[in-house]
Amino acid sequence: MSKITTATLLKYKQEGKKFTALTAYDASFAKAFDEEGIEVLLVGDSLGMVLQGQDDTLPVSVDDMCYHTRCVRRGISRTLLIADLPFMSYATPEQALGNCAKLMQAGAGMVKMEGGHWLMPTVKMLTERGIPVCAHIGLTPQSVHVFGGFKVQGRDQDNAQRIMDEAKGFEAAGAQLLVLECIPAALAKAVTEAVSIPVIGIGAGKDTDAQILVMHDVLGISTGYIPRFSKNYLKQTGDIRAAIRAYIEEVQQGVFPADEHTFN
Ligand code: KIV
Repeated sequence: MSKITTATLLKYKQEGKKFTALTAYDASFAKAFDEEGIEVLLVGDSLGMVLQGQDDTLPVSVDDMCYHTRCVRRGISRTLLIADLPFMSYATPEQALGNCAKLMQAGAGMVKMEGGHWLMPTVKMLTERGIPVCAHIGLTPQSVHVFGGFKVQGRDQDNAQRIMDEAKGFEAAGAQLLVLECIPAALAKAVTEAVSIPVIGIGAGKDTDAQILVMHDVLGISTGYIPRFSKNYLKQTGDIRAAIRAYIEEVQQGVFPADEHTFN
């Protein structure tokens, strides 16, 4: 099978073919996910919660991210590998450039950053310098203390409009992928239709171009609670590789996410 690139994902969007993303943090799981056909793997800063047992993602360091990115890179041969920039590692353009370079040299094929209008000049600067960017909007977990908890975003008119403007702004700044987290399904559909870059949803309904989940949620082994928008595929299959195949199949067929995983 050929390697998945940003060009592949763009073609999928244009053809209306849904694709599937998952987090990974080590070589062995990454290899299995790659072999089963996951198109995008994310070394998410969610590792702060699911690997390190922290309450949120804020304590994760650039060194942590580079370590896990190197591990995942060794396990894969075809998936597109995205790595998260952790909290306060891209607050200025200079910081962003230095830390993105570290993640790309650790093996990332793209970097992901959470933010809004303030981040757009940085995204433009990075893409001009050859660093592909995925922008993450909606519920951005690094801002959990500003939101006052992990809450659905974009429920009122002003916030919905802000999220729409951010999506268009990031596309104009050169972002090649967008993650929408925990927003109402109708807003996610409108955003997905309004931009030409592929949109990956998590807790954003079934109409985005792709879905992403945290691997520990898919396998039902997260510490703490499993979010409502997630699904434990291991429970229904009893086998890790079969669970991943079921997740991919349900995304491709538009079965996942169902109404019970969706915010309206
Ligand atoms: O850190 C992470 O795993 C993420 C996904 C939940 C999108 O950002």
